Amino acid sequence: MELSKMKVTLITGASGGIGKAFARKLAAEKHNLLLVARSRGKLDVLCKELIEEHHITAQYIALDLITKDADQIIFEETEKRDLTVDCLVNNAGVGSAGDFIDLDLHKELDIISLNISFLTSLTFRYLKQMRERNSGTIINIGSMASFQPTPFQAVYAASKAFVRSFTEALVAENKPFKINILLLCPGLTETNFFQGGEMSIQDKKTLAGNISFQSPEEVVEEGLTALRKHKTSIISGSKNRLLISMGYLFPNSMLSNIMANKFRSHFQPKK
Ligand SMILES: NC(=O)c1ccc[n+]([C@@H]2O[C@H](COP(=O)([O-])OP(=O)(O)OC[C@H]3O[C@@H](n4cnc5c(N)ncnc54)[C@H](OP(=O)(O)O)[C@@H]3O)[C@@H](O)[C@H]2O)c1
Repeated sequence: MELSKMKVTLITGASGGIGKAFARKLAAEKHNLLLVARSRGKLDVLCKELIEEHHITAQYIALDLITKDADQIIFEETEKRDLTVDCLVNNAGVGSAGDFIDLDLHKELDIISLNISFLTSLTFRYLKQMRERNSGTIINIGSMASFQPTPFQAVYAASKAFVRSFTEALVAENKPFKINILLLCPGLTETNFFQGGEMSIQDKKTLAGNISFQSPEEVVEEGLTALRKHKTSIISGSKNRLLISMGYLFPNSMLSNIMANKFRSHFQPKK
């Protein structure tokens, strides 16, 4: 039964940014793809483009992943379509920025639903199958923000801290099996992330400071290179790696206060 199934790489959040760059790169490497996001039109165009350019199979599921039971809907769809998810890229994620009490609580809870609950549920379903086959790959997209509490991005950074801790634990649990698990932590990347999280251009400038942006293609290249070298964790960008390693020299409380002071006049202006 299993033999007749087609192996696919499932990428969440594939309609733009880092997810789309993963789709393009993996299609060029002849992966058959199952792409997931809300924007049906974008997914449709991308699948057609990848099929034509790379002679692979590319299909999609258009779904809001904060829908109740979204993981079950996707899992049942892959069963119905006779697909084996051999590689799972948990990329879909959203953020926000602002003084926590000024933010929309429902949207903050949606961040937790997408970045944590959905990622956990989808991983559970497909890791279970990978363990039965004793093969598979999972790439979880974390963030540089996962390494310390981040004032004015409090929920987003905490959600990525979950992704980091969860992924590192799964790496260790799955050591005896032929399952590759990678935590890919991008720094600032030129995508629609800021617009998607309803952040203004000024919010983006404040958060970025002097830090330069990578392209989504650079992030994906570094992630896939790390995977080929059997690494289990990578922060993309040499300057980002340096920043994080310097951060280890100081307690989180100190780093949080430095960041809060830097961002306060923008996010908490005196009334
Ligand atoms: N850009 C950065 O600076 C940066 C830095 C560190 C980490 N990251 C992480 O990188 C990952 C990818 O983000 P990106 O930078 O590529 O941002 P992006 O360009 O905004 O892409 C986000 C993707 O997720 C999808 N998505 C968002 N909400 C969704 C929902 N409710 N249901 C289904 N799909 C949803 C979007 O598609 P639809 O709108 O079509 O649904 C889109 O394809 C995220 O996990 C993010 O946290 C980004």
